[in-house]
Amino acid sequence: MKIVMLGAPGAGKGTQAVSIAKEYGIPHISTGDIFRANIKNHTELGMKAKEYMDKGALVPDEITIGMLLDRIAENDCKNGFVLDGFPRTIPQAESLRAALLLQDQKIDYAVDIEVPDDVIIERMGGRRVCSKCGATCHIKYNPPKQEGICDSCGGELIIRADDAPETVLERLKTYHEMTQPLIDFYKKEGVLCAVDGTKTQAEVFQQILGALN
Ligand code: AP5
Repeated sequence: MKIVMLGAPGAGKGTQAVSIAKEYGIPHISTGDIFRANIKNHTELGMKAKEYMDKGALVPDEITIGMLLDRIAENDCKNGFVLDGFPRTIPQAESLRAALLLQDQKIDYAVDIEVPDDVIIERMGGRRVCSKCGATCHIKYNPPKQEGICDSCGGELIIRADDAPETVLERLKTYHEMTQPLIDFYKKEGVLCAVDGTKTQAEVFQQILGALN
């Protein structure tokens, strides 16, 4: 199964993508996580991506598209994948469609998690991520068992660099301008499933499973 996750920053794409990947035994591929791993390792790609991410802007398509297409060509993607954070522009979606078409394949589902901007702003304020394994939690909606410590690996929980309030507003603006048009793109492809992302994490997951099954 080949799935793309759509939705504003903080809508819960990553949270749900982890559960979907586990349910269907397919890899969860997050372009944001790939960039953050590169930043942590001080690679050239990471340094370039950081310039854009810190401002709440998109990393240019010339960098992002090749990186993602290389990733989905790897062996573990043979039976499908769940893409989280890609595509984010129409050229990214078109490149993905063209690459899959070459193998007579296509995206099966585009899951759009709908959440209004005011809820997003509140969610981002409470998000914490593990500095070691990258797991995400929320101080109010999905709190860790021990404050400041990751439930999965015991690493330190930190605030993501681009979750500063002014950067979140910029990311939302970028989303509405550049990424929201993908909802129509996938509607025309006949693969769009919209779910109400304001429900609890478990309820959102049930809606997604209902749509995919
Ligand atoms: P990326 O890492 O993809 O960030 P994003 O899309 O902005 O999304 P987030 O990770 O912030 O949120 P999410 O929707 O995954 O929500 P989450 O599950 O964490 O990208 C970062 C940057 O990298 C971009 O700004 C860009 O610069 C660059 N980039 C990445 N991909 C790119 C591309 N393709 N092209 C160009 N540039 C690219 O949930 C948020 C919080 O809410 C968490 O705390 C969570 O616990 C909580 N939560 C989740 N669900 C619920 C719920 N139902 N109820 C209550 N709380 C919930």
